[in-house]
Amino acid sequence: MTMNNEIQNIINNQINAELQSFYAYLGMAAYFDEQSLEGFAHWAKKQSEEEHEHAMKFYRHLQERGGSVELKALEPVDTSFNSVVAAFKAALKQEQHITKLIHEMYDKAISRKDYPLQQLLNWFIEEQVEEEDMVQTIIDQLERVGDSGEGILMLDRELKSR
Ligand SMILES: [Fe+2]
Ligand SMILES: [Fe+2]
Repeated sequence: MTMNNEIQNIINNQINAELQSFYAYLGMAAYFDEQSLEGFAHWAKKQSEEEHEHAMKFYRHLQERGGSVELKALEPVDTSFNSVVAAFKAALKQEQHITKLIHEMYDKAISRKDYPLQQLLNWFIEEQVEEEDMVQTIIDQLERVGDSGEGILMLDRELKSR
């Protein structure tokens, strides 16, 4: 079974985008670790692992369908931010970008009548709603505590158990 070239290309692009997200969350983790914010660092590392899993879901999908995996270069990412909230705002932007890519893939999968890809993407569509909501919630909480060191440490402790 060989795969439609266009579909194979967009899946390979998405593998790259998910690994870029993996890298971005790792950059956030490095920033938090440097600030000794262990809870935030733990959260960012968990996120980065999840992004790696997302890349692997697309990897497996290609393998299962007789496609070829392509591993493209990653861009450098930030490992330093102006504030904790600035780091989370960057993460939200990254997630919104991924959501847009997933939706564009879905449009392609529909127009090409690629039912297996639609099935896989249904999971990702729901996942993106959850991820954006989670990051937005943390931003809202950070904005509520503002520059209060005590508030930030409280949120840091909360995220440690995630
Ligand atoms: Fe992802
Ligand atoms: Fe994500």
